[in-house]
Amino acid sequence: MPSCRKTSRNCARGRPPLPDTAAPDTAAPDTAAILTALPGHLVGADLAAAAAVLHRACFSPGWDQAALAALLAMPGAGLYVLSRGEDDDRLAAMLLARAAADEAEIITLCVDPSCRGNGFGKRLIREMGEHLGRDGVRTLFLEVADGNRAAKALYRDCGFRVIGRRRAYYADGDDAIIMRRADMI
Ligand SMILES: CC(C)(COP(=O)(O)OP(=O)(O)OC[C@H]1O[C@@H](n2cnc3c(N)ncnc32)[C@H](O)[C@@H]1OP(=O)(O)O)[C@@H](O)C(=O)NCCC(=O)NCCS
Repeated sequence: MPSCRKTSRNCARGRPPLPDTAAPDTAAPDTAAILTALPGHLVGADLAAAAAVLHRACFSPGWDQAALAALLAMPGAGLYVLSRGEDDDRLAAMLLARAAADEAEIITLCVDPSCRGNGFGKRLIREMGEHLGRDGVRTLFLEVADGNRAAKALYRDCGFRVIGRRRAYYADGDDAIIMRRADMI
């Protein structure tokens, strides 16, 4: 996994999460929300734009469309999304992962503030794990800010365990926690 110093809070790259109290602007999607696993090379500009809108709703300042498009174009990139419904272009949640051989890294995970607490984050991690497991991935890694209690609780709930710490890793001085899930078989 990459070991270069990163300067902002996210799973791998990004910005500080907004407080969980961020004002919702739309209703949460119903259970008909669509889950899709999309290989990066198939992702078009529209999806990169929608992903940027969601990322900016979850991190400040968040990534723009060009940054998302570049990440989605990486070899091994896969984007897992929950839409708000068939006739709605907005994303409720997304998980971007990158696989290489039998390992993968969660690059970012975002659930729109109006959609949190509905199990969407957990669902995306489960679906990603099943999808990548079928592709031969055996170990998942991620980095998360030590102060991000919600994300750490979610990852623990999903079987990730702490394997390391990078002190004062982020620009605000927070540590990065490195987590691994190695039960993919
Ligand atoms: C972290 C985040 C992805 C959680 O998404 P979510 O869809 O609300 O999470 P879920 O509803 O799937 O929660 C699953 C479990 O995670 C934990 N969890 C989620 N939110 C939590 C919170 N605010 N406080 C404590 N635990 C929390 C709980 O264990 C929960 O299980 P429970 O509902 O049975 O208690 C979401 O808050 C988010 O997008 N935050 C901003 C971006 C971010 O920090 N991403 C992670 C960067 S590494």
